[in-house]
Amino acid sequence: MKIAVLPGDGIGPEVTREAVRVLEALDLPGLTLFDGDVGGIAYKRHGHPLPLETLTMAKESDAVLFGAVGDPECDNLERSLRPEQAILGLRKELDLFANLRPAKVFEGLEHLSPLKPEIAKTLDLLIVRELTGDVYFGDKGEKVALDGSREGWDMMSYCETEVQRIALTAFRASRGRGDKHRVTSVDKANVLETSQVWRDSVKAAAVSHPDITLDHMYVDNAAMQIISNPAQFGVILTGNLFGDILSDLASAAVGSIGLLASASMGERRTAHGIFGLYEPIHGSAPDIAGEGKANPMATILSAAMMLRHSFGMEAEAARIDAAVGKALSDGIHGGDLGGDYGTQAIGDAVLERL
Ligand code: IPM
Ligand code: MG
Repeated sequence: MKIAVLPGDGIGPEVTREAVRVLEALDLPGLTLFDGDVGGIAYKRHGHPLPLETLTMAKESDAVLFGAVGDPECDNLERSLRPEQAILGLRKELDLFANLRPAKVFEGLEHLSPLKPEIAKTLDLLIVRELTGDVYFGDKGEKVALDGSREGWDMMSYCETEVQRIALTAFRASRGRGDKHRVTSVDKANVLETSQVWRDSVKAAAVSHPDITLDHMYVDNAAMQIISNPAQFGVILTGNLFGDILSDLASAAVGSIGLLASASMGERRTAHGIFGLYEPIHGSAPDIAGEGKANPMATILSAAMMLRHSFGMEAEAARIDAAVGKALSDGIHGGDLGGDYGTQAIGDAVLERL
């Protein structure tokens, strides 16, 4: 089992280190970890945020454990050399079109959510975000507007086949959750042509899945509903841009972005399961980088998702989830949760419980 570990920038290396300790503690036979550079650090060392060597390593592995990319020192580089291009490039090159972002309030931690506890405890949803299309990957550019001012433009589009494959992922994921089999497709079909094609394609895909309860919601309403009545949601199926925004919203509702893991998957099979890239949904947090303050739990939970989805190791994944849950309920809280446990202390606490 080959895992490419790509820590990246900012707090990436700190949080990834703790997740690696957890993986190593499981003592899984045949597990080999390889390290590679991505993001701003890769630009500084190799002149590109996604060096060929790193891309090749990722392609040859069975799964990727990713930290974070983003470095204020690189903000003025031309866009193609900025750290963010590393993660966008990996998603595209590896055809990781399906991004799974579960958001659930941990039992006993309702008080950490900015929502009222009785609402917070009903939040248990999965965002299935399309990851390789939409306005993220359309043509883009800058031109001179008619009045002589600068004009930026980005092309948004989805084709039927792109929508249908992510819709099928959402339907499958909904079954796996064993809950209400409810999928809410989120779009902006009252305004955007892209969304009209999206909505019609999702409906067409649903015809052969009668066990799924499918409904459709505009993205502005969805933002409001996630906060005011989260209990209604099982799986939220949405495009790249809306999914980016709604997943941060959902993580804030959980109480901290430092707790949310994610899986990005495609269709490539390996000898062990399905290839995937696993990353915390938070970014590189340059303001606290190197201070040992970041909460590594989201990355540790991402490693659990990796064992579950790419290696079929449900029992080991559940052990990690339980250890993190226990640490949280025992009061092991990082600064993001108003506590004073540092990165390594949180890693130690999770290991002890594991
Ligand atoms: C995310 C991040 C990325 C995105 C950035 C870093 C390019 O915000 O994974 O949600 O926009 O997809
Ligand atoms: Mg984001």
